[in-house]
Formats: sequence, structure tokens, C-alpha cells
Amino acid sequence: LISLKTLPQKHRDTEEYSFCKRGLWGWHFFLFLLFYCVLPGILHAAGPLCLRCHPAHYAKRGRCTACHRGNEQAARQTLAHHELIPGSLASFSLPDSPARERGKKLAALLACRRCHALEHRGNRLASDLEQVANTNSVAQLGTALQKPAWYMPDFRLTDHDRDDLLTYLLFAGNVRREGKLPEIPLVVHFADDQRQRLDPFNRHCGGCHMTLTARHGGLGQGRVAPNLAGLLGAFYPRTYRTGAPWTPAALKQWLQNPRTSRPLATMLPVRLSESEYTELLQQITETAN
Ligand code: HEC
Ligand code: HEC
Ligand code: HEC
Ligand code: HEC
Repeated sequence: LISLKTLPQKHRDTEEYSFCKRGLWGWHFFLFLLFYCVLPGILHAAGPLCLRCHPAHYAKRGRCTACHRGNEQAARQTLAHHELIPGSLASFSLPDSPARERGKKLAALLACRRCHALEHRGNRLASDLEQVANTNSVAQLGTALQKPAWYMPDFRLTDHDRDDLLTYLLFAGNVRREGKLPEIPLVVHFADDQRQRLDPFNRHCGGCHMTLTARHGGLGQGRVAPNLAGLLGAFYPRTYRTGAPWTPAALKQWLQNPRTSRPLATMLPVRLSESEYTELLQQITETAN
């Protein structure tokens, strides 16, 4: 209507113009209102179409999509089940979930936090897991755990452990979704071939170990020995001696002779000059929080 008024008189009289300008804008506006405002409102109020195929349950705890994701306005199964969270993982949202608690313990045991932030604690050497759990499908998360990225350890999880971890991750992601935690920026790493060959970690440790550093990203390519990311920080497992954390002094002793603290250690002593050790230490303490 507005455009019609602004049109010169001679255009208003031609058949096409009056049809286009009056008809289309009016229709578009009407359709826009219908599809984006009215219909979703009606569908939402009418309840999820999931109920055509499933009985309701946990109705007091929220809508189906709060626990299962999916698309509750789709009548076809494949569309309705888009990125569905299956029943086996949906307990993440229940107040009392043994699977979630097991997952939480497992995340602590496997020390995800020496690389990832989770529930707002942890190093920021790899992505923020709440963010990841919030935006990735269950299938993507499962693959990330079972076919891990290059600098992430392969934990060789059983299906059961993987599901427990996923339940916990979904829970953590949901806390973020509800806006209870602020976002944490991710450290972005860039590798530089020239520097990689010369740096102390690659020279002395990288053949057997890998690590992640805040400033230089992933270093080393060895998979025969533990990934050392976060070694001197708060989240690395306390493996120096039973219950004792790794400190610069402990590491120095270890490199001189691993068997003084672990009689059956298979790593051989690594001889480093004082300056090489200082350089290495500087490089790997950057991984600490
Ligand atoms: C057109 C019918 C249809 C609609 C609509 C539908 N489903 Fe299903 N759903 C099924 C069928 C059939 C199965 C069992 C077969 C299967 O597992 O694929 C199933 C299985 C499931 C399961 C169990 C899967 C598992 O592995 O634990 C969940 C959870 C589920 N649906 C949730 C939903 C939710 C939530 C919605 C709405 C967003 C929904 N469904 C909409 C037909 C439907
Ligand atoms: C508070 C979270 C929650 C809500 C809301 C919820 N579910 Fe579930 N759903 C679960 C859990 C947990 C399970 C696993 C089995 C159980 O505990 O009953 C499950 C299992 C299922 C299953 C698989 C059943 C089976 O025997 O394997 C289907 C289908 C399903 N839900 C559909 C729905 C539909 C449809 C809605 C919406 C009306 C819905 N759910 C709402 C948490 C929820
Ligand atoms: C030694 C460091 C390290 C540890 C420990 C680690 N990860 Fe990772 N993880 C990575 C790296 C590196 C990536 C790939 C880059 C990224 O996503 O930041 C990654 C990626 C992921 C992704 C996919 C992220 C995405 O963006 O899609 C998930 C999910 C994940 N890790 C979960 C875990 C869980 C759960 C644990 C603990 C059981 C764990 N990680 C332990 C280093 C680690
Ligand atoms: C020739 C291979 C090799 C090289 C080179 C090597 N390591 Fe190791 N490292 C190992 C092996 C194998 C283990 C597992 C020890 C065991 O049997 O408990 C290990 C274990 C460790 C551990 C204990 C980790 C834990 O959580 O138990 C630390 C710390 C460590 N190495 C640091 C280093 C550092 C730092 C360097 C470089 C200065 C280095 N290593 C060089 C093979 C190597």
C-alpha cells in the first residue's frame, strides 16, 4: 500500500505494476506473519507433534525438546528426530542421574580439564566443552571422543563410559544454554614448522610425547608416551609419586632418572643442559592455567 502511493500515476494504471506492488508486498507481509509468528505460536500452544507417535512423560519437567532436542513441530519421524538425544542419554536433565555422576567422575579421572574448560574450570588449550556440547549433536560428540583429534589422547572408552561422559557433557552444555555461565574465549594456536623443529619440546621429548601449549599450540608427535598437556598445572593427574603433583623440581629429577620415583618406568633419562631445561620449562609452563 505504501509503495502504491509513492508510485507515479502512469505506473499505477498499468496492469503489471499495480498487481506487483500492491499484491506482492501485501501477500509477503501476510505470509511472513503467518509462517513466522502465527503458525509457530499455534503449534507451540497445541503441544509437540512428538505426541502423535509417543506417549507423554516427564511432562512437568518441560517439553520433549528440553531433554531430547529434535523438532517438535515436525510430523515426519526423520525431521522430528533431527539431532535427537536418545533415551539412553536423556537423563542428563534429571535431578538424580547415576550416569551423569559417573560421567562427571570419569571426566575428573581422565583429566579433560588439563586441556578443556568444563563447568568453568580448566585450562583453555582446547575448546570449551560446554560450548561444544551445546552446539554439537550427540553423534558429533561421540565421534570426538572415540576418534579423537590429533592432540587429544585416545582414551579407548567403552561404549558405556562414552555414554556416561556424553550424559555429563550434555548436562554441562545445558547449564551454559540456560545462561548460567559466561562464555570462555578459546586459545587459538598456530603451528610454525621452522620453530617446531627447533623448540626444546620437539627436540627432546616430541618423538615420544605430545603436548599443547598456550602460545605455540600442539607440539611433538609421539603417541608411545603420555600426552603431557598441562603437566605443571592444577589439572594434570597427580602421577609423579602416588598423589604427588608434577613440579619443576619433580620434572628435573624425573628427567635425570625416571626410576628414582617410579621403579618400573620405561622412559630413559634425558640429559639436558641447565639452559635447555630452563627453556623447556618455560615452554611447558605456558600450558599451566
Ligand atoms: C512419526 C512418528 C514419530 C514422531 C513425530 C516422533 N517420533 Fe520418536 N520415534 C518414533 C519411532 C517409530 C521410534 C522407534 C524407532 C526408532 O528408534 O527409530 C521413535 C523413537 C524415539 C526415541 C527413542 C530413541 C532411542 O534410541 O532411545 C526417542 C527419545 C524419541 N523417539 C523422541 C521423539 C521426540 C522428542 C519427538 C518430537 C520432537 C519424536 N520422537 C517424534 C516415531 C516418531
Ligand atoms: C526431563 C527430561 C525429559 C523430558 C521432558 C522428556 N523425556 Fe523422554 N526420556 C527421558 C529419559 C531420562 C528417558 C530414558 C528412559 C526413562 O528414564 O524413562 C527418556 C526416554 C524416552 C523415549 C524412549 C523410551 C524407551 O523406552 O526407550 C522416548 C520415545 C521419549 N523419551 C519421548 C519423549 C517425548 C515424546 C517427550 C515429550 C512429551 C519426552 N520424551 C520428554 C527424559 C525426558
Ligand atoms: C591433552 C589434551 C586433551 C585432553 C586431556 C582432552 N582433550 Fe578433548 N580435545 C583436545 C584437542 C586438541 C581437541 C581438538 C581441538 C579443539 O576442539 O580444541 C579436542 C576436541 C574435543 C572435542 C570436540 C570439540 C569440537 O570442537 O568439536 C570433544 C567433545 C572433546 N575434546 C572432549 C574431551 C573429553 C570429554 C575429554 C576428557 C575425557 C577430553 N576431551 C580430553 C585435547 C584434549
Ligand atoms: C624415547 C621416548 C621418550 C622421550 C624422548 C621422552 N619420554 Fe617421557 N616418557 C616416555 C615413556 C615411555 C613414558 C611412560 C613412563 C612409564 O613407563 O611410566 C614417559 C613418561 C613421562 C612422564 C610421566 C608422565 C606421567 O603422567 O606418568 C613425564 C613427565 C615425561 N615422560 C616427561 C618427558 C619430557 C619432559 C621429555 C623431554 C625432555 C621426555 N619425557 C622425553 C618416553 C619418552
